[in-house]
Amino acid sequence: MKGIVFTEFLELVEDKFGLEMVDRIISSSELASDGIYTSVGTYSFSEMLQLLQHLSENTGISIDNLLLVYAEHFFSVIEKSYPGLLATYKDPIEMISSIENHIHVEVRKIYPDAELPTFEVIEKTKDHLVMDYTSSRAMHHFGLGLMNKTFEHFNSTATIELEKIKEDGTQVRFVINRN
Ligand code: HEM
Repeated sequence: MKGIVFTEFLELVEDKFGLEMVDRIISSSELASDGIYTSVGTYSFSEMLQLLQHLSENTGISIDNLLLVYAEHFFSVIEKSYPGLLATYKDPIEMISSIENHIHVEVRKIYPDAELPTFEVIEKTKDHLVMDYTSSRAMHHFGLGLMNKTFEHFNSTATIELEKIKEDGTQVRFVINRN
């Protein structure tokens, strides 16, 4: 997992819960990195999972909800860091249905070792999109947060439902309807 995901995560934790919480979740985790991340480095996903688990235990917020809020923050990082990529699109459904064949393809060119999910478009009309998410990392709520913000970015809103195809969340169907 890319360092930028860790550095932005710890910044958000510091913002919302304070530096003590950052110290607490780092010191209660077993981290090969010792909790020292650079945005261009690459670290094990298990480190993110431990940080999320400990933050969840300390705050009582579920990991899914933490990932949702984190993704909403991460979208602003994307807006700042990759304005050109977003400017390619005029419509949220066009953008979201292009993650697999365009956006993450570009991400892979920047970070060859990125660990990305796969998204398969099942149905697509002007106002409706059904897409299946697959990833061993089960970060579907991170996807949900990014999708919410994508609609907001285009001054639009949608109702997005998640249906688990696999109970462990490694395969999830997103049913998206523009409001
Ligand atoms: C992961 C970039 C848009 C879904 C990531 C990662 C990066 C990235 C850098 C982390 C890879 C790693 O840690 O190794 C971008 C950029 C985007 C974009 C630059 C737009 C310009 C989206 C959108 C979605 C999405 C709109 C919405 C569904 C995900 C998910 C992950 C991810 C769910 C977590 C990894 C996983 O589930 O396996 N993306 N992304 N991305 N991205 Fe994107």
